[in-house]
Amino acid sequence: MPKNTQEAATPWFVDFQDVWLAYNDELLQQNNFAVEAIELKIRPGEFIAIVGPSGCGKSTFMKLATGLKMPSMGKIRIDGQPVTGPLKVSGMAFQAPSLLPWRTTVDNVLLPLEIVEPYRSQFKHKRKEYEERARKLLQKVGLGGYEDKFPWQLSGGMQQRASICRALIHEPKMLLLDEPFGALDAFTREELWCILRDLWTEQRFNVILVTHDLRESVFLADTVYVMSKSPGRFVVKREIDLPRPRELELTYTKEFTDIVLELRSHIGAFRKPAAAATATATATATA
Ligand SMILES: Nc1ncnc2c1ncn2[C@@H]1O[C@H](COP(=O)(O)OP(=O)(O)OP(=O)(O)O)[C@@H](O)[C@H]1O
Ligand SMILES: [Mg+2]
Repeated sequence: MPKNTQEAATPWFVDFQDVWLAYNDELLQQNNFAVEAIELKIRPGEFIAIVGPSGCGKSTFMKLATGLKMPSMGKIRIDGQPVTGPLKVSGMAFQAPSLLPWRTTVDNVLLPLEIVEPYRSQFKHKRKEYEERARKLLQKVGLGGYEDKFPWQLSGGMQQRASICRALIHEPKMLLLDEPFGALDAFTREELWCILRDLWTEQRFNVILVTHDLRESVFLADTVYVMSKSPGRFVVKREIDLPRPRELELTYTKEFTDIVLELRSHIGAFRKPAAAATATATATATA
């Protein structure tokens, strides 16, 4: 079989092959990697979540997955193509909504279409159609009536909903979310879980969600990966076999909390050696 045909036949949407990243040459020479030996395969339309302690390399992984950083070693293929620079197939949203304060909600959502081709060159001509699409999306996430308000007239949760719309407006095949709900109160967060669940169920884009919230990861994802710190590696892969559609009531069941506790124990296990070392150091210091 010719090599190209074989490569095109890969079933993975995201394919990390032994990927390592050091942030600069000096760190590389010292073998100081922010993430290492990442082997990750994601199916088309799969929803994955990544959890792990602060500083373990989750955001670094996201930079690799969207082509903002190139690996020091290893290969990354996304949507069948080797990653050589920033990707167009992805949309991103972060912990802080980062909407432009001088633009209305709908104009913020339209922003990617003004920047990303092929939309950019058609923007003037198709503005009406694009605006219609943005307004529809805003309505879907419960922001009907707020389209023409400015970000500072919206609550934090509303701003975050608008930034998810902005990440989805160009209908990307992949949505990258780096702690998108971290700054929100528990009720708003759960509301947004359901909004994200519904958008994903309807459109089946790939999702990579980075979160500190284990319940969030289990409620939303098909597969949860646990990362460890120093070295920043993927150490546990947990398929979440809870049936869909998932409703919030599920989060109060034993089967749900059992999975959350199982994941918690993995993270706890990685943290223990550090905690034990600190305890020993303290004991020695005070002896
Ligand atoms: N631009 C950079 N230059 C050098 N080192 C960096 C840079 N960005 C991150 N790092 C280092 O890479 C490691 C992983 O950082 P990263 O931001 O990926 O962690 P994280 O898991 O996203 O943490 P958090 O949960 O706090 O957001 C850390 O040791 C960090 O100090
Ligand atoms: Mg981070």
